[in-house]
Amino acid sequence: MFDLITGLPIHPLISHAVVVVVPLAAIGALILTFVAKWRSTYLPLVYIAVLLSPITAFIATQSGEALSERVGLPKSHSTLGERLALVVLAFAIIFSIWFAIEKSDRVRTKSPKLLQQVVKVFVPLLAITSLVLTVLVGHSGAEATWKYRITQAEVSALEGPAPSASAPAGTINLSTAEVKRHNTKTDCWSIVNGKVYNLTSYVQNHPGGAAVISNICGKDGTNSFTNQHNTQSKPNSVLSGFLLGSLGASITKEAGQQVIAPPASSNNGESGEESGEESEKD
Ligand code: HEM
Ligand code: HEM
Repeated sequence: MFDLITGLPIHPLISHAVVVVVPLAAIGALILTFVAKWRSTYLPLVYIAVLLSPITAFIATQSGEALSERVGLPKSHSTLGERLALVVLAFAIIFSIWFAIEKSDRVRTKSPKLLQQVVKVFVPLLAITSLVLTVLVGHSGAEATWKYRITQAEVSALEGPAPSASAPAGTINLSTAEVKRHNTKTDCWSIVNGKVYNLTSYVQNHPGGAAVISNICGKDGTNSFTNQHNTQSKPNSVLSGFLLGSLGASITKEAGQQVIAPPASSNNGESGEESGEESEKD
């Protein structure tokens, strides 16, 4: 539902709302906790920001999930994002109770003293937690999006095509430059929807012929693949078996050197005469 808007992902758009609204709510709540004289004037304003927080965070998590299906899942970022959504929901609930206590004499006299004290402790506590989490979620999201690109751009500018220069020893960075090096029928990597696949063993096993696969070796094959197979489940599930990782991720050198065998059922003998049987056995 919250995937694209005018062809662009909703996630970066809505995450800007989260990183503005949540800190406003949190800082506002902290100030009002300690400065009682401002409460009567500013409590409703802060309350608006507090109520907007879980709404924007909910859209951010939903749109984040949709974006992950396109570009891969940034694990720690998504975990932190989901946690933030829960924390701001709890914050909005506790703040609502505080709001009622502050604004209504009837609620204040009727609600137990213990509840009022718990609320007074939890409002600033949840405000601080929301603030810290927002910084972490925003930072990890921006890092997932930009860190690799910036590093790669600097590497390219300084050293020309140096595909693995930014990867730590013993690992391979799944950059477009790295993919470009695997551009032959016998060493074939390709990018589909932001993920890198090792299709080496599939060139000769593809039911639609070797040529179309070798055409996309070393390149972004998203258009070719989706134009032909779009949402067909079998090609998509076969493709997922060749996954190395998301573009920009790091994998071990060992994983990069292994040829991934095609699934036993990939050729089925339908139309792929090129090589077939032997490789079907494993
Ligand atoms: C309140 C929650 C969240 C916030 C505030 C948030 C914020 C962000 C931000 C600021 C970016 C960088 C956007 C850019 O610079 O263009 C980003 C990227 C991203 N986020 Fe989130 N995010 C949240 C939750 C999630 C969740 C739950 C998921 C996945 C389940 C997710 C998946 C992603 C993905 C896939 C990217 C793009 C990474 C890439 O380009 O490689 N986010 N997010
Ligand atoms: C990149 C990875 C690809 C994978 C994993 C893949 C997978 C498959 C699979 C599993 C089939 C058999 C479909 C079935 O049994 O229902 C198939 C057939 C076929 N593929 Fe691909 N394919 C890929 C790329 C391509 C590309 C780039 C093209 C053309 C540009 C293409 C053209 C065809 C054709 C013409 C057939 C036979 C007709 C059909 O069954 O649809 N494939 N492919």
